[in-house]
Amino acid sequence: MILERTEILEISDLLNQKDIEKLSFAADIIRRGGTVCFPTETVYGLGANALDQKAVSDIFTAKGRPQDNPLIIHLSDVSQIAKYCNIDDNGYFNKISPLFPAPLTVILDKKDMIPDLVTAKLKSVGVRIPKDKIARKFLELCDVPVAAPSANISGKPSPTCAQHVIDDLCGKVDAIICAGNTNVGVESTIVSLVTTPPTLLRPGGITYETLLDIFGDVAVSDAVLHEMKPGDTASAPGMKYKHYSPRANVTLVLGENQKVIEFFKTKLNCENCAILTFSEDIPYISGNIFDIGSINKPEQHAKSIFSHLRATDKISGLENVYVRITGDKSGLSLAVYNRLLKAAAYNILTL
Ligand code: TXA
Ligand code: MG
Repeated sequence: MILERTEILEISDLLNQKDIEKLSFAADIIRRGGTVCFPTETVYGLGANALDQKAVSDIFTAKGRPQDNPLIIHLSDVSQIAKYCNIDDNGYFNKISPLFPAPLTVILDKKDMIPDLVTAKLKSVGVRIPKDKIARKFLELCDVPVAAPSANISGKPSPTCAQHVIDDLCGKVDAIICAGNTNVGVESTIVSLVTTPPTLLRPGGITYETLLDIFGDVAVSDAVLHEMKPGDTASAPGMKYKHYSPRANVTLVLGENQKVIEFFKTKLNCENCAILTFSEDIPYISGNIFDIGSINKPEQHAKSIFSHLRATDKISGLENVYVRITGDKSGLSLAVYNRLLKAAAYNILTL
């Protein structure tokens, strides 16, 4: 940290003169080697100047993140990517770049100016150009590449509102830019362009189907749907860590409406358990119930899932969290399923 305390900067959606002044203040902290949490359309990030080793090491310290888990860099415009990365000559980058700005991270061959600390010594680096207008304005004012993982304590669900960031990182970072809830709710899609064909490393708002349309052929990393065994080399190193976990044990529940509702009813008045389920199930059950959105609306599940997982941590004595899933792996559902599998350590109850 470079300041004595965490500055809390409330930003309105309008981006008026006062907001710009606050963003300039935050950007100045980044340029002076400090750490700033900022909203994006996916989740909030914890940023520092990617070219400043000390600032980057402060990110790892604030989050309690293992140093072998690389960070991605954030830029305000696609035209800046060639300054920090060697654009692939197989044409993949040119095919996907029109999608930017987007909830998307591309893995490219890095140039030497990106410190090894950022990429955990990998020769590649993840690059993201967020769509969120506050994020873009902030990055433009920073005028340096901003290394930023999600702004949560390592292992906890990613933050989808400013309060989550304050809960985890107040006192550990120089400033927190507070805006509303994030729009997508799960982290960006990560696609590696240094493999042939490109490889989906983490599903997100840009879907596998969209990538397939663009590239014709896309590999899917094993880590998306399967547990990494000790000794497996993860193509997205972060995937090997326990993730998105509240304190209680999480079990995913898969089955037809009637069977699932019957199961949830056996948990009626159960004080040490919580249920995260679809809006349609809510009228039939009671207890510690969280509504994750309508059964056919994965965008609602993506928006609410991390927030509900975090909320279960606030219920004292909670031992079990049951989360209803549909098993759908298409579109945005793949991203939600991937995060839930990790939160539940692959524990699925099929009814
Ligand atoms: O939506 C997002 O991507 C958010 C916002 C703040 O932009 N950021 C985010 O960062 O989710 P993080 O660090 O929580 O997740 C990035 C993932 C990690 O699992 C990391 O291991 C992986 O990207 N990663 C970073 N660099 C990589 C590389 N060169 N090759 C493969 N995976 C990489
Ligand atoms: Mg993260």
